[in-house]
Amino acid sequence: MAIDALKSLEEQGLAELRDAVDEAALRGWNTRYFGEKGLMKSALAELGKMPKDQRAAYGQEANRVKVALESAYESALADAKERALQASLNAEPLDVTLPGRSAPRGRVHPATRALRQITGIFADMGFRVYRTRDVETDENNFELLNMPPHHPARDMWDTFFTTTPGVVLRTHTSPGQIHVMRESAPNPVRVILPGMCYRYEAITPRSEIQFYQVEGLVIGEGVTMADLKGTITSFARRMFGPDRQVRIRSSYFPFTEPSIEVDIDWPKDDPNRDRLTKGTRWLEIMGAGMVHPSVLRNGGYDPAKVTGFAFGMGPQRMLMLQHAIDDIRLFWQNDLRFLRQF
Ligand code: DAH
Repeated sequence: MAIDALKSLEEQGLAELRDAVDEAALRGWNTRYFGEKGLMKSALAELGKMPKDQRAAYGQEANRVKVALESAYESALADAKERALQASLNAEPLDVTLPGRSAPRGRVHPATRALRQITGIFADMGFRVYRTRDVETDENNFELLNMPPHHPARDMWDTFFTTTPGVVLRTHTSPGQIHVMRESAPNPVRVILPGMCYRYEAITPRSEIQFYQVEGLVIGEGVTMADLKGTITSFARRMFGPDRQVRIRSSYFPFTEPSIEVDIDWPKDDPNRDRLTKGTRWLEIMGAGMVHPSVLRNGGYDPAKVTGFAFGMGPQRMLMLQHAIDDIRLFWQNDLRFLRQF
């Protein structure tokens, strides 16, 4: 095949492209020219049979024709697709009055919802939200909260230990108090610390191995038990409404003196009332008290100058009380029939 033949191959190819009416015809053309046994392929194969002195010129021309045909094909294909699209749009006009298909709306987890409600109420009372770590040192989780190693009070918190000695999963949010105090001393403090806690416990309708707490800490000159009581009752009024009862009774925690616990009455009309409250009709929602002088000292404060109160509450317990949810295990089971009710 000589150089002239390449020229007519090009002309023939372009003419056939112009005649191709649709995408299928164009694809057929492409196979005829660029397929395994295509015309372009055999034209290129000629190169090997050429006398040496003609090879360079033939090769160059063959390449030029190949590129020209390829690009003509690509643009013819794009035109054909565009024509087909226009034709189908004209043939089946879009019905914009059809109702849309709505995507299902997501929602926050009920435990997150409770956390947000709680932080909202405390934000109104001027509390700042402070985040601390889930993995803690034994020192922060126990020792600096007035529980030296082997102190019997540690029995109140069944603990997950890590393989690193002295490092535990926090059993409560109280170690956050140490972090806040050491960052803030000697200035006054008014914070809440929401977060996850972990306990190596039997799982029952009332307790899980993993649950949220919201810790609170207030430190300043002249802070009293009356401030604690006022803060807790106004919080409970907003969380549970005016009709629910709040009960405050004395208790013991190593890091507070005096210590109290706070209960809310279980909804009266709930048939599970006695089972969930162990017959008492009350469910505990928090421990609290006046910060122990040693804990204030560990945080860098002078207990002769300032006092403080602290509390640790269970947001999931509160949601249970609000809606008469009879099993705390429902929170982490991810059963959509439960979750969709919130
Ligand atoms: N950390 C306690 C617990 O998990 C709850 C608690 C009690 C927190 C008294 C406090 C407090 O801040 O003052 O059982």
